[in-house]
Amino acid sequence: MIINATTQVDAAFQRCILPSCGREYGLDEVLVGCSACGHLLDVVYDWDRTRPPRGLAELEARWARRDDPAAFSGVWRFHCLLPFAPIDQVVTIGEGQTLLQRSAGVADYVGLPSGELYLQYEGANPSGSFKDNGMAAAFTHARSIGACRAACASTGNTSASLAAFCSVTRLMKAVIFIGSGKISFGKLSQALDYGALTVQIAGDFDDAMLRVKQVTERLGIYLVNSVNPFRLEGQKTIMFRVLEALRWQVPDWIVVPGGNLGNSSAFGKAFYELRKLGLIDRMPRLAVINAAGANTLYELYENRKLRWNEGSVDTSLVKTYYDQLDAEQKRASTIASAIEINRPVNLYKCLRALECCDGVVREVTDQEILDAKAQVGAGGLGCEPASGASVAGAKKLRAEGVIAPNERVVCILTGHLLKDPKATVAYHTTDQEMFNQVLGQRGVRTASFANRAVAVPNDLDEIVKAIQLYS
Ligand code: F0G
Repeated sequence: MIINATTQVDAAFQRCILPSCGREYGLDEVLVGCSACGHLLDVVYDWDRTRPPRGLAELEARWARRDDPAAFSGVWRFHCLLPFAPIDQVVTIGEGQTLLQRSAGVADYVGLPSGELYLQYEGANPSGSFKDNGMAAAFTHARSIGACRAACASTGNTSASLAAFCSVTRLMKAVIFIGSGKISFGKLSQALDYGALTVQIAGDFDDAMLRVKQVTERLGIYLVNSVNPFRLEGQKTIMFRVLEALRWQVPDWIVVPGGNLGNSSAFGKAFYELRKLGLIDRMPRLAVINAAGANTLYELYENRKLRWNEGSVDTSLVKTYYDQLDAEQKRASTIASAIEINRPVNLYKCLRALECCDGVVREVTDQEILDAKAQVGAGGLGCEPASGASVAGAKKLRAEGVIAPNERVVCILTGHLLKDPKATVAYHTTDQEMFNQVLGQRGVRTASFANRAVAVPNDLDEIVKAIQLYS
């Protein structure tokens, strides 16, 4: 759905995230980094010239106008908190109709009282992942500057989202870069079916990310990866919806899987801005969860003590670590292919979010991810492996006592269960060979929460007997 007409654009601009640089750019400049120092950019608002809500509950009024696509969108309903484009020029495909589920089963697994563990289910987005929140915003910006092609490197969900926005709106052509054999079939099938030009690079996500930056620059294609600051504006709304569902009470913890670190960065910005606007009176704590096989943030933040440090980041720590990865030829490797990333592009923004939300980082094994994922499936709407990392991380933090027994925790389920059926079926299978082939080689030894299919002969009495035995 494209909404046309023109209104006054509110005051917004882009600015380098480093306080020591702080160079500013207009909204019409298409940049993925500061031209002066190369660091990431933020979209910044002059709130005195915009019209932020007086209270957050004011935003609920927009629900009454759900026949208006911009009010129906779970992103643009919050337009006054991301006013970089006129409301009548935003692009939406119906994203953000997502649910905050309370899960007693998962609370029990994590070690919290039932009622204190919530799952923010972003798999309900049109393309099946949280990416549609950010894509609505990036697409809107791309349209505003007249782009006709957009590209991304992806572990699968960004590409599915971009491809969906292109096929639904017909506003742009999608060019997607994926690593060879590194994308689950659910996600690949979306890109192919939606008609995106799909470029398979002989390499992994980190290679594809490097190449897409070079190619988009050379060919003048609009880049929608989360280095694009407008993407993160859309992803802020995941937190607005969490707050709305909690009647505007700030939870104690937000727990999110970390890959390219766009979500964690966007969440920090969302809470920082709400606090600045006086719309919330305290910040939640942020926990970012890496897969152990793709643990750059964990290694740098928890082991090497890399900090944002009010913008004075010790970049030599990062360089040394990346040089070490290269020297050891170490590649990211995890069953959670969505977060199989060793060089997260939003590292610095994420460090800033961790500072502002008193954050922690943890790593979880593929075994922990799959067990947590099975618990989510048994006690909710299910998720893909990367999302299971947030629940596994919450369990770990609770066991360590970092999350207290009475705290309220929101885990973000970033992608739909059906994105990666192979991992799910391999976990529940009775076929040992399949288990070993898909999971065993990743160090997964057990499937404690497997729900195994019951094999029976094609015989009525035997079928009845089996059902009586197992039900
Ligand atoms: N969960 C899922 C399901 C994802 O697809 C991703 C990222 C993440 C978590 C990590 O989020 O990057 O904000 O830290 N997927 C990207 C992609 C990289 O290409 O689809 P992040």
